[in-house]
Amino acid sequence: MSFLNVQNLSKKYNGTSAPAVFDLSFTLERGEILSLLGESGCGKSTALRMIAGFETPDGGLIELEGNILNNEKKCLSAEKRGVGIVFQDAALFPHLTVFDNIAFGIKKQKAKLRKQRVEEMLALVGLSDFGERFPHQISGGQQQRVSIARALAPKPNLLLLDEPFSALDENLKNKLLEDVYKILHKAQVPSIFVTHSVHDALNTADRILILKDGHTQQLGSPHDVYFRPANEYVANFFGKTNILDAETISQGLLTCVGTIPYRHKLPLGEKLKIAVRPEDFLVKTEENCDGICSTVDRVRFCDSGCSELLINVKDQPGIQLCVQCQGDESICPKDNVHVEIVPEKVRILSGS
Ligand SMILES: Nc1ncnc2c1ncn2[C@@H]1O[C@H](COP(=O)(O)OP(=O)(O)O)[C@@H](O)[C@H]1O
Ligand SMILES: [Mg+2]
Repeated sequence: MSFLNVQNLSKKYNGTSAPAVFDLSFTLERGEILSLLGESGCGKSTALRMIAGFETPDGGLIELEGNILNNEKKCLSAEKRGVGIVFQDAALFPHLTVFDNIAFGIKKQKAKLRKQRVEEMLALVGLSDFGERFPHQISGGQQQRVSIARALAPKPNLLLLDEPFSALDENLKNKLLEDVYKILHKAQVPSIFVTHSVHDALNTADRILILKDGHTQQLGSPHDVYFRPANEYVANFFGKTNILDAETISQGLLTCVGTIPYRHKLPLGEKLKIAVRPEDFLVKTEENCDGICSTVDRVRFCDSGCSELLINVKDQPGIQLCVQCQGDESICPKDNVHVEIVPEKVRILSGS
């Protein structure tokens, strides 16, 4: 049985027309980090708040280590769930020292054990020398570490993090993300990490669940969701993607830039959509091109050192592709080029 089991969880707020979360199901294993990823308003915090016990679901099951937290008959209160939570704003008590902030949730323990646990947590988040300081005497990044230490001190069964670093600047956030990744893996506490940042989710999570308007779009490893997007929304969410019409023919897939030799098991004549990332094209200049030629509309230099070309496909008005080539300075607007899709990089979108 999975460590956390969430099944068919839904929530519609009073006075709203559509559910904030609809039929959410996933499981989480011990020590695993799951990221709930999606645009602002897609239902991430609502999902997290239902798991924490701050919001009552309309229906569904939440089971943690075999104990039912929520089903059609009961909804356990937040303090009985053994779930730690970290918010965007560290929300430390300003009048308490770092030490006392971390000790806050374990007040009932004997003084000696409490001190030992706080010291352990300070060491875990790399702040052993900061126990006597007050929150205003440490940086924003350090405050967030304290709030993670505070959430972990009572040994929660599950840690929930709701956009914990979105108030921090980019460099600090990246450093902290790496630290938190190590802290969570060391502590082996299963965690759900809510973010709107594709980069943060891909970097930190073992698995990613993508939400749109409360509906799950895909659940999979970073590799899966990036390279095998379930639909057009997910494909576009993870950076630039070309979505092309294709038809199954005996030699492969027929597209606007020619036939891709692709082994498929689909019936012939099937119309579908495929996703191709800009880096998954081969670009040849006119001299050595013998297939369909296209015209370069614009050349953009990318921060990765590559050139990105916007290409108008010949005889296909309105179809523009975004393709990448390795810093080739010789390609200019109005040049004719030949583009080919690398067959093994094609992703057939399901439900197309
Ligand atoms: N207490 C509430 N009452 C009514 N609507 C709410 C409430 N909280 C959130 N919502 C609505 O539910 C949807 C999901 O919100 P939320 O879970 O906060 O999304 P996210 O965390 O992904 O930004 C939004 O449309 C939001 O306006
Ligand atoms: Mg939110």
